[in-house]
Amino acid sequence: MSIRIMGTGSALPGRRVENREIVELVDTSDEWIRERTGIGSRHVSTGETVVALAADACGQALADAGRQAEEVELLLVATCSPEDVAPCMACQVQSRIGAGNAVAFDLNAACAGFLFALHTAWAYVEAGIYRNALIAGSEVLSKLVDWEDRGTCILFGDGAGAVYVEKCETGGILSFVQHADGSRGAVLAGGSRPLENPWAGQRDFQKFLRMDGREVFAFALRQVPLNVEEALGKAHLTVGDVELFVLHQANRRIIEGISKRLGADISLFPMNLDQVGNTSSAAIPLLLDQLNRKGKLRRGMRLVLSGFGAGLTCGACVMEW
Ligand code: COA
Repeated sequence: MSIRIMGTGSALPGRRVENREIVELVDTSDEWIRERTGIGSRHVSTGETVVALAADACGQALADAGRQAEEVELLLVATCSPEDVAPCMACQVQSRIGAGNAVAFDLNAACAGFLFALHTAWAYVEAGIYRNALIAGSEVLSKLVDWEDRGTCILFGDGAGAVYVEKCETGGILSFVQHADGSRGAVLAGGSRPLENPWAGQRDFQKFLRMDGREVFAFALRQVPLNVEEALGKAHLTVGDVELFVLHQANRRIIEGISKRLGADISLFPMNLDQVGNTSSAAIPLLLDQLNRKGKLRRGMRLVLSGFGAGLTCGACVMEW
């Protein structure tokens, strides 16, 4: 038994910010950003929320699958940029889309969040607890980014992607791996609030995301190929059996490096980061939705999904579409 993706959806804020607009904020250039990251523009919220984006993407995923919101049994939202601590984003999405019969909660594993949520849904279904799930990755990272830090503000974008999955007897998701290394958390960290209570003294806090870009780059290049090989091994498959690698969209050079290390042609690695930048937990479902809508995914096709992010976290999944 496993789960199969039956429908996909995605949503982007209306405002698209080009590299040349970032050049007005920090000491950088369109050429540098394109050459070092592959990013040309990103969508930035001017009011769209994590909940609104996720609800939009979820509605589309359900429509694509031909299912009604009341049929959903589990609703997960992966995010590291929630508007509120309570109620969680998933409960707010549930209320918006009318998925009143679902159990709903959030999950944060930063950019690997969608994969971790997909794995969670798979485990619930495998355990016989639920038969289907609606899973969104949704981020408005623009509120956590320091728009004066050229090392990070060029990279991230806002958006959401969602998938609706159902229990299946054959095919679907074939294997999963996921890992976390909290000892390396400082490599990409921040977005905290000050400790404010009558007894606490002044403490340091990191309002904005801070990142050691080179460390993250090296981590991704080393870890993603290992995760992909591990997941393929669990599914008794090899790199040659994979028809598409849908990777976290962080940096074109990282994806190119991974394709070389795996010995798989770069044409098998679709990318959209030129248009949307790094949308964190939304990146993989957003790209999946774009591929699905373009008719690039056919039933039975073998895909690998793999992501990495703050934590540090990483994971991979092998599936038959
Ligand atoms: N524009 C122009 N110059 C920049 C710049 C920018 N936006 N950002 C950094 N630089 C400069 C640096 O200050 C450095 O200058 P120096 O040599 O005078 O010190 C030089 O460019 C090279 O910096 P470096 O950090 O080595 O660049 P890089 O090739 O590693 O690219 C990143 C930087 C951030 C694009 C790259 O490391 C990266 O993408 N890392 C992964 C980040 C990521 O994916 N994070 C999310 C994980 S989910």
